[in-house]
Amino acid sequence: MHKAIGYVVGGGLKENLRVRLSIPANQVQEGGFVVVESGNWLFYGLVTDLQLGATDPRFADEQSETRFLPQLASLLHGQTLYTNLEVLPALMLDKGPEFGTQEYTQWRAEIDRGERPEPRPMPVKTIPPHHARVRYASAGDIAEIFGKVEDERNFVIGYTREQGHPVCLDLEKLVQRSSGVFGATGTGKSFLTRIVLAGLIQHNRSSILVFDMHSEYGVDDTSSDTGERVTGLKAKFSSRVRLVGLGQGAQIRGQTPDFNLEIAMKDIQPADVELLTSELNLKETTPTTLDALVNEFGQEGWFSTFREMKVGAVIEADDGKKIPAPGSVAAWANRAGINVFAAEGLHSKLGRLFRLPYVVEKPAADSVGEVIKALEAGQHVVLSFGDYESDLDYLLVSNLLTRRIRETWEKRTNRFRTHGEKEPRQLVIVLEEAHKLLNREMAGQTTFSTIAREMRKYYVTLLIIDQRPSQIYDEVMSQLGTRISGWLGDEEDIRSVLSGLAGREALRGMLARLQPKEEVLLLGWGVPMPLPVRSRRYDKLFWEELLGAGGSSKRSVEQNLKELGF
Ligand SMILES: Nc1ncnc2c1ncn2[C@@H]1O[C@H](COP(=O)(O)OP(=O)(O)O)[C@@H](O)[C@H]1O
Ligand SMILES: [Mg+2]
Repeated sequence: MHKAIGYVVGGGLKENLRVRLSIPANQVQEGGFVVVESGNWLFYGLVTDLQLGATDPRFADEQSETRFLPQLASLLHGQTLYTNLEVLPALMLDKGPEFGTQEYTQWRAEIDRGERPEPRPMPVKTIPPHHARVRYASAGDIAEIFGKVEDERNFVIGYTREQGHPVCLDLEKLVQRSSGVFGATGTGKSFLTRIVLAGLIQHNRSSILVFDMHSEYGVDDTSSDTGERVTGLKAKFSSRVRLVGLGQGAQIRGQTPDFNLEIAMKDIQPADVELLTSELNLKETTPTTLDALVNEFGQEGWFSTFREMKVGAVIEADDGKKIPAPGSVAAWANRAGINVFAAEGLHSKLGRLFRLPYVVEKPAADSVGEVIKALEAGQHVVLSFGDYESDLDYLLVSNLLTRRIRETWEKRTNRFRTHGEKEPRQLVIVLEEAHKLLNREMAGQTTFSTIAREMRKYYVTLLIIDQRPSQIYDEVMSQLGTRISGWLGDEEDIRSVLSGLAGREALRGMLARLQPKEEVLLLGWGVPMPLPVRSRRYDKLFWEELLGAGGSSKRSVEQNLKELGF
């Protein structure tokens, strides 16, 4: 029997439960996972507040310890002063009659015969009675709610804060919907993402494409604060992870990638340019000019033809007047009935695109196709932007590649549905600095918001990583199933991480009071109930547990726990 920490003294469904604490207050923290026992039912909840109380305000006001002998003062305090917990009830579970009794055997047999549904944790719809016993959740309770460590689909993401019990994420649920990792800079997003990606690769049910803006995930890196070496995914999953560098001859932190990505000019579409409207400071006339270009030179030819045109070249006509030279932007604009200034302005603004070394007439290989093929074959791709770290590179390349992926996956899904062809491989697209692609202005134009909203049915979901969730379009945020958030200081950011979730009031404080590093709150549809956890550490031990150093990964988790004293 687990030790009680208190008993229910009041509260309700709307205002949370009040629990009189029977152990010293310093042994309980906000966010603690507690169980309320009520006959056959267990209620699972989170401590959301601790409050000092007194049977009469006089006892609280008077400093009795200075007036009475210590034993007397302590006796008086014990009788008159107390601490209450506020507990947010989240789930309830029918555990059946007491284990080992005849009633239990009968109850269990009825379930096994299918006469009674297998009990499952369900949202709280009622409350425990007065004086119901409250205790800390045990490792078994946590496994009951968050899944057993031994189960193949479960992955340890962290440990409960007070007692260090392992808490699992259901990887299959995680990839079914888009998800997000949030937290202020330095809270551990990149580290935790490495952990999750390693788990997903090991689990081997989905392919992963990482848009690795700062070259953090593929190759080994050095931690900025500790100076320690951080293992990249390629080092551990060498044959399953394809390391791709943007641009011919690109190296990633001194390492040669498996292949390089080049983009063919014919693949660049007007939508890719429109996406860069604010980045390139494009005018409202842009769509008209682009339309005219595509009309005349086609979807595949407009970019390279426009690129070749000269600006300002003139020739002398027969009558001695200067007119735009053939092959100039102005000559084309006149012919196409487009404002010359608008066309020349656009040409000059697209100069940054025209000069990109990785956008070429004829790529050495179909590298975009190769990325897609690798993903379809169940491999994982980490695309490093290397030296091309500007927003322009990130927006252009990630959106273009994702558009191609979306087309492919939609086609595959339709063939699977109508012709019974092979089921498409589940794909997770990982986006660092997601707000750059999913902000309010951009969301309508990028493929990413479509994916976040509806690609679930086409086997593609996003894993977005961001330090400013408030800048991500609300409609995208509210679609995120699993949310893992580290400390956030900004009210707006906190609000958007919690958007669409129940119990926001209580969770808000919890997010704001997380440790500045390596602590996260698990939230959303993908987890059974919200829970703050100490993040799993990304280190040598992690890899031993995951890939096994002689033993299976599951056994070493148990060893680990034993070493911690559980
Ligand atoms: N799970 C973890 N395991 C080991 N170290 C971590 C972990 N999370 C954070 N850290 C430490 O905190 C630092 C910041 O983490 P990082 O993931 O780079 O933050 P963010 O991406 O949120 O800015 C890292 O350099 C590392 O030293
Ligand atoms: Mg980071």
